[in-house]
Amino acid sequence: MAIQWFPGHMHLTRKAIGERIKDIDVVIELLDARLPGSSSNPLLAELTGHKPAVKVLNKQDVADPARTPLWLDWYNARSETRAIALDASEPAPARRLIDACHQLAPQRGGMAKPMRVLICGIPNVGKSTLINTLSKKSQAKTGDEAGITKLEQRITLADDFYLWDTPGMLWPRITVPESGFKLAASGAIGRNAYDEEEVALELIGYLKQHYVPLLEARYKLGLPPGAVGDMQDEEVLEAVARKRGAIMAGGRVNLQKAAELVMTDFRTAILGPITLETPAEFEVWQAEGARQ
Ligand code: G4P
Repeated sequence: MAIQWFPGHMHLTRKAIGERIKDIDVVIELLDARLPGSSSNPLLAELTGHKPAVKVLNKQDVADPARTPLWLDWYNARSETRAIALDASEPAPARRLIDACHQLAPQRGGMAKPMRVLICGIPNVGKSTLINTLSKKSQAKTGDEAGITKLEQRITLADDFYLWDTPGMLWPRITVPESGFKLAASGAIGRNAYDEEEVALELIGYLKQHYVPLLEARYKLGLPPGAVGDMQDEEVLEAVARKRGAIMAGGRVNLQKAAELVMTDFRTAILGPITLETPAEFEVWQAEGARQ
């Protein structure tokens, strides 16, 4: 069953972005490098008046290193868009962000024309972590300056470079069922919006197709190499439950517990570096979604 999630309206966000956007040169959209298509909110371009955009594929340390370059190329092929990959806790992410923004708005720079940037992202992509890292390197300014509400935060990354945090919440937008599952697996949507067992089975289904060695290495199910790829998703979840001692009174397997384990292993990257979609797959899902 497809995941439906209606987390609430973005009236305040829309209004606040609308008020700020006229003074913004570049919009940074933070994405989860493990789902760089599904974690993007297609409404953002509309909300920001199609300003030049830097797509930051964050959490690259836990994404598949063979797939991140495909996504960077995919985003870089768009006009007025630069894509970079980073790890929000890396010591000095600012330089690359600044360079990417200057490429998109070369007319801005210097004290008279400081670069003005808005940073956005759906929950859990690492925006707070990145802002914390950037703030340590600069002076985070909040509060009492004219025009800066409590909901906004302005960080001075360089004397001529201001970064504004998005006020309000940019909720993810589930455009196709596949994206819903990937967003749920990543932790970007509310826990009450999905069934963990269902999402874990979808996750296992994808891992069976693309990451069998990682599944085998993590769960050591005692099967011949590659055999896990031929099992049903439910059989794999059950085998994980038995292997990890998720057994209820009476000896029945606790599939709910096993589902939580698999999801946590993905989220914390104990399973290994994984990306849940390629640009080609994402394009196919979107085309199918558009036909329905
Ligand atoms: P948000 O503001 O966009 O909602 O996200 P936030 O910074 O709170 O980050 C969400 C989770 O992702 C946090 O983990 C954070 O540590 C982790 N994270 C952020 N950036 C990166 C990154 O580049 N690489 C990796 N591997 N993880 C990243 P958490 O488990 O929810 O919290 P905590 O245990 O770190 O406190």
